[in-house]
Amino acid sequence: MDTSTIVILDFGSQYTQLIARRIREFNVFSVVLPCTTPPEKVKALNPKGVILSGGPCSVYDADAPEADAGVLAMGVPVLGICYGLQYIVHHLGGKVVGAAAREYGHAEVTVVAETPLFRGLPGTMDVWMSHADHAEELPEGFELTAKTSNAVAGIADEARKIWAVQFHPEVAHTRQGMELLKNFCLDICGAEQDWTPEHFIQSTVERVRAQVGTGHAICGLSGGVDSSVAAVLVAKAIGERLTCIFVNNGVLRKDEFLKVQTTMREQLGLNVVAVDSSERFLAKLAGVTDPEQKRKVIGNEFIAVFDDEAKKIFEAEKSSGEEIAWLVQGTLYPDVIESSSVHGPSHTIKSHHNVGGLPADMKLKLIEPLRDLFKDEVRRIGRDLGMPDDIIERQPFPGPGLAVRILGEVTAERVAILQEADQIVVDEIKKAGLYRKVWQSFAVLLPVKSVGVMGDQRTYANTCAVRAVESEDGMTADWAPLPYEVLRTISSRIVSEVRGINRVVYDITSKPPGTIEWE
Ligand code: XMP
Repeated sequence: MDTSTIVILDFGSQYTQLIARRIREFNVFSVVLPCTTPPEKVKALNPKGVILSGGPCSVYDADAPEADAGVLAMGVPVLGICYGLQYIVHHLGGKVVGAAAREYGHAEVTVVAETPLFRGLPGTMDVWMSHADHAEELPEGFELTAKTSNAVAGIADEARKIWAVQFHPEVAHTRQGMELLKNFCLDICGAEQDWTPEHFIQSTVERVRAQVGTGHAICGLSGGVDSSVAAVLVAKAIGERLTCIFVNNGVLRKDEFLKVQTTMREQLGLNVVAVDSSERFLAKLAGVTDPEQKRKVIGNEFIAVFDDEAKKIFEAEKSSGEEIAWLVQGTLYPDVIESSSVHGPSHTIKSHHNVGGLPADMKLKLIEPLRDLFKDEVRRIGRDLGMPDDIIERQPFPGPGLAVRILGEVTAERVAILQEADQIVVDEIKKAGLYRKVWQSFAVLLPVKSVGVMGDQRTYANTCAVRAVESEDGMTADWAPLPYEVLRTISSRIVSEVRGINRVVYDITSKPPGTIEWE
């Protein structure tokens, strides 16, 4: 690739992905690799610079992540961050010691030597620290560039092109963090700001066109942003030879099956095969109440329906003499990083089934046009592709859909009740201008009936929970403090408009300890 690249070696910090995102924000491409990546592999990417991330360990821990010290001697500029600084000091002959007091949170750093890393930045900076160990003796050739009242905060050996800081420039609390990263990537490394949406779209379209040749590709659409952007990109490359399959699994939001079809065909010009399999899914879900079992049933059934449709499409293609078949998937960069992380995939709390494995006899080859992108970049690309806001800004919706929002058994009747309530929640959140502010907002149908009174009538009906959360990435979330007015309207509309619900409650649990979905 001819794009300027910064390699980030990951020592396990919770902020590693953030370093990559920050650098990409100023249009420089960056990749995250495990710290154990051999120097030859790093070199093969022809990086303009290397960043060593932070990490949770001490350099003295038995299981401390180890990089090959050869990465410090590749001749390209290196920036160590937090553990990255300690790693440099430890491996180049300095001394790291455990501190009596941890520095955690805001700290004031004083610059004590001129260095291109701090060029244009103030002499004292408010930064974010999160460390226990610190550097006590610097390796030969290094000078102190910054300090706090307790510890070394910056070092440099300009002859060897190595810089390091003890604080975290990638975190928003470090006010001059972006400037510091720009100083490193642009001035010190000389990286070009050539990672732009136009460049990405153009190079991806060319690559997919060359890859697929005269073949045919299929793509499972969910209506969400990732699969839609992936499909539009691939369609731009191979046009009509992409067929999208959109399955109604019986647990979509209200009117979604029709709405998504219309948008995809009429606004995005995609070639869509829509399959209404709701009865088939609901029949398989009968009597199933366990959340993981629901996911399994829906995941397996989805694969079966998708296979049937894919086979039909490829049979038709075969008659034209073309056998090579491709499957488009909307895999994103965080999944790629996760699957190659030194820590391995994180512990599964819920199994997230989307498009699963397809049968080997179809010999499908994968196209993953988004595998280099973070979610916010997918949105940027979608916007540049001219896709409408109501797809780009759509809140995430789980693959198993309303099934994991209906506690207890999923029946056609309960799906219809929840669809109505859910529609009201989304409607009112949009009207209040909060749809983009919250990460997700939805209704949950509980297996609880309670007594109410409507007019002069006693009622005995279902309870519905309203859930709205704020989050950056769905990994952690805060319950959203929706204005009382909005809650009041949602509640009164649901109770008066949805037959079968006579009580509405609001979920005020954050994640952790709760999860976003109720199942
Ligand atoms: P939880 O409930 O684990 O959700 O806090 C985190 C994010 O993941 C979504 N989610 C799913 N997405 N299949 C999916 O495609 C699933 O089975 C699934 N379960 C949860 C959830 O909506 C939230 O955005």
